[in-house]
Amino acid sequence: MAFAKISADPAAHPVASIYKLLIGSVVPRPIAFVSTISKTGALNLAPFSFFNAICSEPPAICFSVANRTPAKDTIANIRENGEFVVNIVTEAIAEQMNLCSGDYARGVSEFEVSGLTPDPSEIVRPPCVRESPVNMECKLMQIVEVSAKPSGASLIIGEVVRIHFDPTIADNFRIDPFKLRAIGRMGGAGYVRASDYFEMIRPRIPLKRGD
Ligand SMILES: Cc1cc2nc3c(=O)[nH]c(=O)nc-3n(C[C@H](O)[C@H](O)[C@H](O)COP(=O)(O)O)c2cc1C
Repeated sequence: MAFAKISADPAAHPVASIYKLLIGSVVPRPIAFVSTISKTGALNLAPFSFFNAICSEPPAICFSVANRTPAKDTIANIRENGEFVVNIVTEAIAEQMNLCSGDYARGVSEFEVSGLTPDPSEIVRPPCVRESPVNMECKLMQIVEVSAKPSGASLIIGEVVRIHFDPTIADNFRIDPFKLRAIGRMGGAGYVRASDYFEMIRPRIPLKRGD
């Protein structure tokens, strides 16, 4: 396969153009719907698609928050108390998730804006989203400031200390993607459903570490 590719040096193009290349190419992205709480007890809920699972032992996830002045509520709250919950976004709550991405004043609860229900967590203070079938209670491990520039971001790494999941979508801890019905984010305003699914068996070459 031969492509006549264009070579783009990030330093030679507007930040917004390179951003479009990034978010249009790294697709589909999972969406962390992150609940946090401020030191005065105000609840916050916002979606982040620069998100992934990064470690199994201990289970850990990360997501990235773009710089803004003042800082986005999510990272401000996590800096205050080091706790958050990642809720998985499904087709059923896609519109509520989108509502929660509005730039509301600090102190406005996106639970109230969206009508989603806060359920008490077991270990951390921020609540779980009842309408999300999988919730991961997390404790902050590290914040990595990737860049302090205006369009820079900080990566939040969290240890997953509890996972709540709907048993009707799982068989012996294996989540059925057709029952979960997670959505993914594409570039621009695009989203995908996780229903165009196929499987591939990995090659069975003996590996030194047995993995
Ligand atoms: C699907 C989706 C994904 C998003 N991903 C990110 C992201 O990865 N990083 C980010 O900083 N903002 C992201 N946003 C924007 C934030 O959700 C938005 O700035 C929100 O207002 C932040 O809320 P907060 O100030 O309550 O933390 C995303 C928005 C949507 C709808």
